Amino acid sequence: MVLDSALAERLSAGPHVSRDAARHWPGFSEGTRSVDGVIAAWIGTHNALNSYGDDHRQLRAPIAAALTRRRVEVMAPVIESIVQDVLDGLDGLGAREDIDLVQSYALPIPHEVITRLLGVPAQHLPQFSAAAAGLFDTAASAEAIARSMGAVLALLDQLVASAREHPEDNLIGDLVRAADASESPLSDAELRDQLMLVIIAGTETTVHAIGTLLVHLLSHPDQHALVTSGQISMEAALAESLRLKPPIAAIPLRFAVRRFKDSRSGEQFGEGEPILIHLAAAGLDPERYTDPERFDVQRADGSRSLAFGYGPHVCPGAALATREVVIAVTRFLERYPDTRLAVAPEHLPEPSSFISNGYLSIPVQLA
Ligand code: HEM
Repeated sequence: MVLDSALAERLSAGPHVSRDAARHWPGFSEGTRSVDGVIAAWIGTHNALNSYGDDHRQLRAPIAAALTRRRVEVMAPVIESIVQDVLDGLDGLGAREDIDLVQSYALPIPHEVITRLLGVPAQHLPQFSAAAAGLFDTAASAEAIARSMGAVLALLDQLVASAREHPEDNLIGDLVRAADASESPLSDAELRDQLMLVIIAGTETTVHAIGTLLVHLLSHPDQHALVTSGQISMEAALAESLRLKPPIAAIPLRFAVRRFKDSRSGEQFGEGEPILIHLAAAGLDPERYTDPERFDVQRADGSRSLAFGYGPHVCPGAALATREVVIAVTRFLERYPDTRLAVAPEHLPEPSSFISNGYLSIPVQLA
């Protein structure tokens, strides 16, 4: 497990480390290695995240081509209107004692954004939203999650098939066009798996980013005031929040492609050795950040971190996610500037996961 931020960057960016278990973890594809179920689920699918070299470039290119600055600009007014609708829904709840900011605010926004980003047609919306929400229901049984996964995949198959015939101006249309233009076009199943990756990578992460930034600002009134007065941008506050508590603490798994030594640290890696880069620990690296546990939107050493990853796999949705979180948190604090946390941040429930990092519920009194 790598905790040091500089070593984490060198390994993530270097050519000797792969995310492809099938190719670079001896015994994995042969089934001769016993692998924990959670790890197997993360590394067992073939998509942009779990690939290496030319294969990775080919799988990532259509996704990156569909998440351009232009797409973020097209989505910005859509995000604004989704956020206004969710805020209007909160107005009706305001009189109650406590409301949970995760269920009633942080969660519906990314779900709705991803559905609209993909271009799910109106007639499939209720079915798709219910199935997509089921994927992230942490209280659901494994069978229920598998059912939701099956329902989402079946809908994605239909969407890919109709986008092949009439690609529209949405992410699926962009993916189909970019995939067709590539030297070795992706199959329908590969396209569907890329869409599934976008849904999984782009939803829960953003839910946590919204919730955690709200908790940081609501529990630090001095920092909150710097942002609302315009002295510090919401983007800077988000970068600091992501450094201190990134939505993804670590993503399994990477593997040494061959035996090598990192010359700066002297650290040695055997061929096929699994490596877990700990993004959350890297954000608290005392070699890089002074007083790393402090939330400080004016950090002299900067808040740049590995929260969106680093190197060839760096998050292609970072610009969209940033825009989404900034709009959601800014508009919430404009509408409810005096909201109070009903529970101290250290007592908020967190996922029992070494991957997902955030708050499961955030009870507040709206004001
Ligand atoms: C605040 C929200 C988000 C965070 C913190 C986040 C973080 C990350 C991280 C840490 C990685 C892995 C990078 C690595 O291994 O070096 C990643 C990959 C990825 N993310 Fe995000 N992400 C967010 C939002 C999104 C959104 C909104 C989308 C799409 C709509 C998205 C799509 C992806 C995809 C497709 C990958 C795989 C890229 C590859 O392996 O080449 N993410 N993200």
